[in-house]
Amino acid sequence: MQINPDEKKAQESLMSEIRSIANELESKPAPEILKWGFKKYGDKMVLASSFGAEDVVLIDMMCNINRNLTRVFTLDTGRLNQETYDLIDKIRKKYDIKVDVYFPNASDIEEMVANKGMNLMYESVENRKLCCNFRKIEPLKRALKQFDCWITGLRREQSTTRNKILKIEVDTLNNNITKLNPLADWTNDEIWKYIHENKVPYNELHDRGYPSIGCEPCTRSIKEGEDPRAGRWWWEKDTHKECGLHWKEGK
Ligand code: ADX
Ligand code: SF4
Repeated sequence: MQINPDEKKAQESLMSEIRSIANELESKPAPEILKWGFKKYGDKMVLASSFGAEDVVLIDMMCNINRNLTRVFTLDTGRLNQETYDLIDKIRKKYDIKVDVYFPNASDIEEMVANKGMNLMYESVENRKLCCNFRKIEPLKRALKQFDCWITGLRREQSTTRNKILKIEVDTLNNNITKLNPLADWTNDEIWKYIHENKVPYNELHDRGYPSIGCEPCTRSIKEGEDPRAGRWWWEKDTHKECGLHWKEGK
């Protein structure tokens, strides 16, 4: 797609603005980052929520700051756990917010499973990535089209692919919009302290040893001492345990 010189200029100036504020925001606590985001982007800012522990913390914080401006979406891959669906409704009711749910394109999934089967993800890394692409990445791109800024629950502690994330970034994978990771420097213990102290509803799967919440066929509990990402795509030996929402090989 050709981008005109004015658009290019506007994009470059946004990128340099974000880069210049990155240092300042790095020292700020999560609620301050969210407040900054609300002020700058208003209802053009959205939280992408898998309804894992980090994301419910962010929903609680956002609603405390400005419930009317709080926008949340989730990507329903069609393979989520019942516990996740239960939590989505619980959160909607407790905070009185709308949660937008994005589904994959039906025809993509119909063709994929007709050619490769229902459980293609176990057969090869290539198949698994294809499934993630249709069920997550394409709907994410569609969801983000209407926004100038998205918020995630990513934390540096989670994995080596995440240990360099900043609290504010320009998302080069998604149209150069702003990406906020307000919990980048939080530890797992801090997340759980917040949840308990603030009585935030959370996914029951966490009590059964799930460190993160993903698709049912690809996420499982871990044993004490295991790497938190070990519960994802555990049958794959040498991959980066990323589905592509936040990370691209070579980027
Ligand atoms: S994933 O890339 O492996 O799936 P992970 O489960 O660690 O990511 O979640 C990291 C962040 O990605 C979440 O805090 C959330 O912001 C976003 N995310 C992950 N899965 C979804 C989903 N199904 N819908 C919306 N956002 C999601
Ligand atoms: Fe498909 Fe598994 Fe990726 Fe979900 S995590 S989209 S089920 S491969």
